[in-house]
This record gives sequence, structure tokens and C-alpha cells, in this order.
Amino acid sequence: MNAKLSRRKTLAMLSAMPLAAAAPPARAAASLGETARRAGITYGAAAAGVIFEDPRYRLLYLDHCRAITSDVDLKFDWLRPHSPDQWDWGPADRLLAFAERTGMAFRGHTLIWNENPPRWLKKLSLAEIRRVFDEHIDTVCGRYSGRIAVWDVVNEPFWPGHGKKGGYRTGPWYEAFGPSYVERAFVRARAADPHAVLALNEAHCERFDDVGNGIRKGMKQLVARLLDAGAPLQALGFQAHLQPHIPHDDKRFAAFLRGFGDKGLDIHITELDVNDESFPDPVRKRDALVARRYGDFLRAVLAVPRVNTVINWELADRYSWYAGLARAGQLRSRRPPRPLPFDSGYRPKAAFHAMMKAFRGRKET
Ligand code: XIL
Repeated sequence: MNAKLSRRKTLAMLSAMPLAAAAPPARAAASLGETARRAGITYGAAAAGVIFEDPRYRLLYLDHCRAITSDVDLKFDWLRPHSPDQWDWGPADRLLAFAERTGMAFRGHTLIWNENPPRWLKKLSLAEIRRVFDEHIDTVCGRYSGRIAVWDVVNEPFWPGHGKKGGYRTGPWYEAFGPSYVERAFVRARAADPHAVLALNEAHCERFDDVGNGIRKGMKQLVARLLDAGAPLQALGFQAHLQPHIPHDDKRFAAFLRGFGDKGLDIHITELDVNDESFPDPVRKRDALVARRYGDFLRAVLAVPRVNTVINWELADRYSWYAGLARAGQLRSRRPPRPLPFDSGYRPKAAFHAMMKAFRGRKET
């Protein structure tokens, strides 16, 4: 039977079958997840509910991912959009069940983030916000204890533009506790879930401009403080939404990662994609530049021994968050962005080949 036919058959079967009965099909011959595994890397992608509506997209995860991160379903404002006592567990439960059924590790994203607080939270007193903080971590971590491989306990602690001492990002949790909200979140998460790897996730650290420099400095100080205090921090996540139009230095970024690895922390690349807004229109040229950025970045970070996880933020361009930003007019142009390893027809792009090459060539130094 030729490969195309069997793939088409698999697709037809997948769409026809109730999800609970769908056994994972054989992985694609050239699988990112399998190739990364041989290099000691857990590879995966963020996923949202659309994978249950689009069987071809779902198949891409089955072919390539050994881990999935919840893109939106576990965020505070998605779990508790309307009121303190109304919890919307359905989408997160479904995504986690899918990961379990298909043998993928699940990364919970994210427990505590100062961005996107729902309206009701902003109306509470500081004392009430403190109570909601504790209750939220206890409830979410407790519910999924033993089923989540890694938690992004705190997301994006820093944003120097907010003008707070130490460069902290402000928002309800910061306002309620000051910088110690970070320690508090880790201690509570550990108490409610003794199993998950607990990670601190941050953005922009690969940038070598004022923003990146400020955030790297903040991260160094915060991690030192957490480790001194004996907080249960086991891994650092670096988002790596790469911005080629902003100065970057992959070698120095890798050296920065190495410093944390030397302190015994695992390093995860958690939201990898390449913003192509500054690249020329022709698709071939653009894809080649995106691929080069993937290759250079991955080669540098994969040389760091404690880097053991690489996650793309979604898998195919059609579902990239940049597609939404472009439609909303928030990028330089409204042309459909091409930030991911697969195009909107689910075909592998030059970026896919660059990733495969980087995984195959991994040499730890
Ligand atoms: C993004 C989601 O992908 C979008 O769907 C949502 O509208 C906004 O958030 N850094 C993060 C992620 O840590 O949670 C963000 O995800 C992308 C930037």
C-alpha cells in the first residue's frame, strides 16, 4: 500500500472515529518528536481545542509531538472567565485526556500570570485577590496532580516597561503580594502537586536590547533568590518567540542558559516560533530566512546540556497566534505570517528541515 493512500485512510478513519476510540496511528517517518528524542530532547507544541475540530491538524500532533502545552485552556481567564465560583474545566480536561490517550507529556500553562485578569478579579480588594491566588493554585494543581508533567507555575514575571522596582511585570498578583508572589506560587504548587516539574517561564531573554537585557538581569536575581530560599524550582522555560528584527546573540544567550544549567536547573524552550514580519514578501525567500533563524537558534541552545525540551507555539502557520495578530492589524503587514515548521496546508516548510537538522546534529559541549 503506498504511503499516501495509507495516510489518507488514516485521516478518514480519524475523522470518522469517536475520539475515545482513535488509536494513535504510526508516527510519520520524519518525525520531529522522534528525531528530537534521539538527541535527548522532548519535542512538542502548544495545542488548543481546534485540534478536535480539524483532524488533519490533530494528525500533525500525533506524527510529530511527544508533548503538548495547553495554549489557552488552563489560563486563569479561560478557566474562570465570569466569576470567582464558576470554573470552566471542560476544554482543559479534554486536552489533557487527549494527551494521556496518545502518550504525550502535558505541560500546564500557566498557573499565575499578571496578564489578562478577568474583569471580576480586578474589582476585588487586595485581601480577596490574595485569597483567590492561593485558592486558584490549590484547586488547579490539586485537580490535576499526578497527570501534569510540567507546570509553568509563573509566566512572564518581568516587564521593565511597567516601571516597577527590579523590572517586575505588574498586575493583580504583583499588586497583592509584591515580588514574593513568585515564591508563594511555587511553594503552594508543590504542596498541591508533589509530582509535576515546576518551572518559571519567561519571554524576551534572547533579545539583546534594553528589554532583553533588563529581563535577563531580573531572571538572574530572581532565580538566585528562589534557590536561596529553597523554593521548589526545577526548571526554567524560555519562550523564544524569536524577533529577527531585534538585536540578538544566540551564543551569549546560550551562555546565559548554561549558567542556570550549572545551578542544577533544567532548561526548556517553551514557545518557539519566528516572527517573519520584517522579512520580504516572496514566500520562498521568507521561509528560507525563518528557517535560518530556527537553525542558528537551535544549534546554539542545543549545545547546552541541560536543554532537554523544545516546544513550538502551535505547529502550523494557520493556527499561529501571529495569524491573529496580523488579522487584527498588530503586525507590520496583514499578510499571513509563516512562523512555524508547517504551512497552513500542513506541509513541512524549510523551518521543519532546519529543526530536523539541528536535532540530528546535536552535540552537547
Ligand atoms: C497567546 C495565545 O496563543 C493566544 O491565543 C492568546 O490570545 C494570547 O496568548 N506568551 C505566552 C503565551 O506565554 O501564553 C501567549 O499565548 C503567547 C505569548
